[in-house]
Amino acid sequence: MRRKLVVGNWKMNGNRAANTELLAALKAAGPWVAEVAVCAPFAYLGDVAMSLQGDAMAWGAQDCSAFESGAYTGEVSAAMLAEFGCRYVINGHSERRALHAESDQLVADKAKAALAHRLTPIVCVGETLAEYEAGQTDEVVKRQLSAVIHTLGHCISQVVVAYEPVWAIGTGKTATPEQAQAVHAVLRAQLKAATAQADGMRILYGGSVKPDNATSLFSQPDIDGGLIGGASLKTADFAAICRAAG
Ligand code: 13P
Repeated sequence: MRRKLVVGNWKMNGNRAANTELLAALKAAGPWVAEVAVCAPFAYLGDVAMSLQGDAMAWGAQDCSAFESGAYTGEVSAAMLAEFGCRYVINGHSERRALHAESDQLVADKAKAALAHRLTPIVCVGETLAEYEAGQTDEVVKRQLSAVIHTLGHCISQVVVAYEPVWAIGTGKTATPEQAQAVHAVLRAQLKAATAQADGMRILYGGSVKPDNATSLFSQPDIDGGLIGGASLKTADFAAICRAAG
């Protein structure tokens, strides 16, 4: 039985006062049956660690460097994230693939760096609207996941996979539960071919998850929780989504 996981991806939002308020309200609203985590901007990780110390909620970052240390101005290493108590790090979010030209291989290398420091990578895959319309969804997500499988080998069992169709992110358009389930089943089959532990791995759905669609998405057999953008910034909405995963 896989324990559901709900992760809030704050993206580049928040400020110190608002974050403290949000986390205090979430602490009061929890605990939940599902595992819950928030992925905050780097600058706030120290604050988040202090706010959530001793709470069941975990925290993480939204990216990490593929390199260990050195002359990489602006980069943040996995070792640094581990020092701040991060459990998770998002790798290969579509916004980074699109805006920062992150390749499948770079995403895989970042996940490897994260694992080396005992962080759990949340590896994002997902097709663009053009790829979706061209019927290329399965091909695209399999290619993206394949790079990670080849780079991590048997350690692939330690990652969380997130399917986020780019056309559903921040648009209010959600994949239907059936559409999402079909892609999750493709990803699960690919993982099964790579590791005997695939049945224990969590595959999250992301893209306009809201309190009113969370239950139907999370009730699909291969949807093990969600990666939540906009709704993770609103206490009542995020708490409701966490409850829906219970
Ligand atoms: P929204 O929930 O705002 O669509 O964002 C999804 C996402 O990109 C989470 O990583």
